[in-house]
Amino acid sequence: MNRLTQLRGLAGLLIPGLDAHEARTLGWYHVYGEMFRLLCEDSGFLDFGWSEDPDTSDLLGAQHEMVRQVTASLQAGPEGPWLDVGCGEGGPACLMAQERGVQVTGLNINASQVAMCIERAQRLGVQVDFVEGNAQEMPLDSGTFSGVYTIESPLHYPDKPAFLAEVTRVLKPGGRFALCDIVRVPRDISLGQAMGVELGRWLYACPPLWSAADWAEGMRSLGLEDVEIMDCTRQTLGLTPAWIRQLDSVKGEIRKRYPPGVYQGARRILVELSARLEGLPIGYTLVTARKPA
Ligand SMILES: C[S@@+](CC[C@H](N)C(=O)[O-])C[C@H]1O[C@@H](n2cnc3c(N)ncnc32)[C@H](O)[C@@H]1O
Repeated sequence: MNRLTQLRGLAGLLIPGLDAHEARTLGWYHVYGEMFRLLCEDSGFLDFGWSEDPDTSDLLGAQHEMVRQVTASLQAGPEGPWLDVGCGEGGPACLMAQERGVQVTGLNINASQVAMCIERAQRLGVQVDFVEGNAQEMPLDSGTFSGVYTIESPLHYPDKPAFLAEVTRVLKPGGRFALCDIVRVPRDISLGQAMGVELGRWLYACPPLWSAADWAEGMRSLGLEDVEIMDCTRQTLGLTPAWIRQLDSVKGEIRKRYPPGVYQGARRILVELSARLEGLPIGYTLVTARKPA
């Protein structure tokens, strides 16, 4: 990332509304990317993971399971090529190329993460194309992919209809789409809870979240078919206690690299999330759909 992008990102992080939303997202990963790499042991995965066992200590295994679960519906269609939107540091796309032998393209708005993806694929000896670009305006040809998936990335997109329109455009006729992400859960909540969610959203550089029903409706309005919703809050956010243990295990490194309070702040957010999960107006969902043939 060049210095100008870094400065835009940092300014966007500190002063919301100063610049495009994307600048805040870049700034967020610029500041906290290292903490996530510590937490995820530089595995190339940056998501909650998916496990039926909330006490698991194998968080990397859970992150592998996440991409397997998400792409399971794509496997019902033709074998590749697939697009991974918001591909992070490349772990999921490289795993699919290795395990499934599928041709995968990873798209990410963050140039420094794209560089990490390319380096990871080279190190693992897998063939994956990584492209820098915005999910809401993809620099990709129409009708290219038989499968498009996205994991824990759309929560960052301010223009979700534009993203869905782009997914529909780049899918081949008959191609399948799978989205797995944190969503809004319509619930009556107290003012205090609402403020907590707003603060969390701001800290995590997220515009307003969509609910699972919003995603399903957005897909249907673009003509996508066979839209199915699966709530997976338990298998994903249910792993928060395991992430707290993981955070504690890298506490020393976080304290060395970040100002005082960062470790405690991150821990506090995770503890609140884990303690109040049942009543919170957020959850995690897998929504799948198909473009008509
Ligand atoms: C929480 S990470 C998840 C990464 C990956 N999907 C995984 O499961 O490990 C979210 C990713 O979305 C990317 N992202 C955010 N906004 C984006 C946008 N508008 N277009 C493309 N990528 C975006 C971020 O740069 C980051 O890499």
